[in-house]
Amino acid sequence: MALDIKKPTETAAWKKLQEHYEEMQKATMQQMFQTDASRVEKFNLKWNDFLIDYSKNIVNKETLELLLELTKELGLKNAINEYFEGGIINQTENRAVLHTALRAKETAVINVNGQNVVPEVYDVRRKIKAFTNDVTSGLKTGYTGKAFTDVVNIGIGGSDLGPAMVVEALQFYKNHLNVHFVSNVDGDHVNEIIKKLNPETTLFVIVSKTFTTQETLTNSETIRKWFLQSATQEDVAKHFVAVSTNMQKVTEFGINPDNVFPMWDWVGGRFSLWSAVGLTISLAVGYDNFDELLNGANEMDEHFKTTDFDKNMPVILALLSIWYNNFFGAESEALIPYTQYLQKLAPYLQQGTMESNGKSVGRDGKPVDYQTGTIIWGEPGTNSQHAFFQLIHQGTKLIPSDFIGFVKPLYGDTDHHNKLMSNFFAQTEALLHGKTSAQVQSEFDQQGLDAAKAKFLLPFKVFAGNKPTNTILIEKLTPKSLGSLIALYEHKIFVQGILWNIFSYDQWGVELGKQLANSILEEINTGDVKTHDSSTTYLLNYFLSHK
Ligand code: F6P
Repeated sequence: MALDIKKPTETAAWKKLQEHYEEMQKATMQQMFQTDASRVEKFNLKWNDFLIDYSKNIVNKETLELLLELTKELGLKNAINEYFEGGIINQTENRAVLHTALRAKETAVINVNGQNVVPEVYDVRRKIKAFTNDVTSGLKTGYTGKAFTDVVNIGIGGSDLGPAMVVEALQFYKNHLNVHFVSNVDGDHVNEIIKKLNPETTLFVIVSKTFTTQETLTNSETIRKWFLQSATQEDVAKHFVAVSTNMQKVTEFGINPDNVFPMWDWVGGRFSLWSAVGLTISLAVGYDNFDELLNGANEMDEHFKTTDFDKNMPVILALLSIWYNNFFGAESEALIPYTQYLQKLAPYLQQGTMESNGKSVGRDGKPVDYQTGTIIWGEPGTNSQHAFFQLIHQGTKLIPSDFIGFVKPLYGDTDHHNKLMSNFFAQTEALLHGKTSAQVQSEFDQQGLDAAKAKFLLPFKVFAGNKPTNTILIEKLTPKSLGSLIALYEHKIFVQGILWNIFSYDQWGVELGKQLANSILEEINTGDVKTHDSSTTYLLNYFLSHK
């Protein structure tokens, strides 16, 4: 079944939300907290070891009711069923969207074209497990009989960002293997990695769903050439494995079919870390931890699928984001994890969110006349406090922000953790309350600042506050909680795409640049610059004459 086609702006709920916005834009959270001491009780969600406090948002009971009404009018419940049951919801590519099947229980039945895909998923999971155990135990060795010490993941976009983010996030759980990621076609990137490696003890995992991606094939070729300087063609089979849907191209590259980990066209690149694309994760932290990551995601899937929308974490986060994006005109959202381990979460979710929902044509094939995909950005706190927080606090733009923190640190260093978390709580409090002129004046009085100076300085030191934040507080960063956290954002992306009436699972927008790059490469290689706009011609000629 196809997804419903309905413009959100034509619903009664949207119109009511527009009217409601007129009132709410004058409301302040400071007032809301003052008049309702139990506000947080009404606007928080608890599930497993997650707490989401969304009371620090410019919303009231009516806002939530209207947003929930929108989900009804736009058929969100049916769309969720389609998503989980393998409906062809990626209609422009004629595919199901089933990353959730990759972490389903073994007993689940999920049909694609009438065939249950769960057994194949588990076959691949068993292959990942066996391979991981052989490599980490030293049973599988390189061409000189030495155990592997290093693993290089060669891939880009969804074939890089997910594994790179998770390996970084789960560093605490890592084994002895050194893990590297080569993604950019920039030769300096691959050369910087190669120079640290010993070919005898390095395993290369080439990850490409299509096995046609220029960056990945170029890097793989470069690495193979480097490898062959000290090994033979036969040795390639011992050191190179691939993850792909394209068996033919993989075999043409010279990879032994036994060393191929399959994936399926119903897994989108940016949602693929749960498949064999996560092989590097499994190698880095062991299969059991990889399994836990998948279990955590599966639990979030169940929560999303079965929980009423007013208590449903991904739904509530998606609705709040739509409220700011479409009614307050907010353009971006910040993601601030208070753990260094999650430093790659924002870049990872940039692909998930922006490649999915960066669309301007509705499911009716017509241009949308409302805003869709939000811009995602962020850096861990407290570093980000010393970088861009000034703009969130006192700039002219509204930037709703998610603060993600953990109750327990991994190394048990309470001194550091208490300092970290005091900043975590302080920032959302500061963003809520701001600082009034009376407060600033009273500080000046205490300091004994002279009146003229105080008068001059006062407007600069006032903070308006009323800046929305969600606080996501999780017990501890574990493979399981990380799996749930990633799935939380995946489902938020899904909900938003459904409500915006767009197709979230294609990415035609990235194709044009790739096509043009191919023809420009030909011109660079031959020195024969063809007709372009005057700027591109000028730049190409400048490059050619200076290189
Ligand atoms: O450039 C976009 C994209 O198609 C992503 O969606 C994908 O994750 C990435 O390229 C890599 O593709 P592949 O896994 O086929 O090499």
